[in-house]
Amino acid sequence: MSKNSPYLIVANWKMNPETEEKALHVAKALYGTMKQIKKSELVIAPPSVFLPSLRKLNKNKSLAAQNVFFEKNGSHTGEISAHMLHDIGVTHVIVGHSERRHMGETNGDIQKKILTALSQKLTPIVCVGEEYRDDKGEYLSFLKKQIEECFAGVPKTALSRIIIAYEPLWAIGKNAIREATPEECFETVVYIKKILADFYNHTQPKSLFLYGGSVNEKNALTFLVGGGVDGLLVGRVSLEPKKMEKLLLSIEGGK
Ligand code: PGA
Repeated sequence: MSKNSPYLIVANWKMNPETEEKALHVAKALYGTMKQIKKSELVIAPPSVFLPSLRKLNKNKSLAAQNVFFEKNGSHTGEISAHMLHDIGVTHVIVGHSERRHMGETNGDIQKKILTALSQKLTPIVCVGEEYRDDKGEYLSFLKKQIEECFAGVPKTALSRIIIAYEPLWAIGKNAIREATPEECFETVVYIKKILADFYNHTQPKSLFLYGGSVNEKNALTFLVGGGVDGLLVGRVSLEPKKMEKLLLSIEGGK
């Protein structure tokens, strides 16, 4: 991973679309668009059942899982290991998405998932973000605790293999209160970098940083230009090929 690389656009499909046929249809459209794109790379994160067919569709593209379990094998009904993901050609894994934290995933679980992903040469995309912003700035301590607990025991040398996605919960999904501004993104990403630098004895983290939360074809470029990030984590819009084409073309025109 290098800071001079193209922007990284992660398409988080969440629990969509409903069928494999539809998943392949959207993936084909997105990969088709990518043929004319030079300034961005696309990583699709489909539901895990669609990973093998997307892998087959295009063997050269990076592919992300939306979750991983931290144990290697055993009696863990319903879980999928990092080794299994690696074995079918998955390259990245989203870890600690707010929708999983909402279901009870803790910072401690996320820390173990980061280490497990790294051990299988998967690139973890670690999501962090505050639930709300208060005037007193308590959300900053919340973020600090979240990051320190998620990165406890993660070696400094691994940071260049980790992607960090800043996803403020209040700006995500259909229930978003409002969109974040590029300035808010910029300030918070600087703050996250400082927390990591302090945590790792004044070493600037070489990780890539993404922004996620109601990213669309109109605001994508503003986050890349003004938000201080290396890429974007796109939810709803990533299932709409026409909007994604506009989003990717806006970046082509603007970088
Ligand atoms: P959204 O989702 O783009 O639909 O807000 C982003 C995310 O949850 O990763």
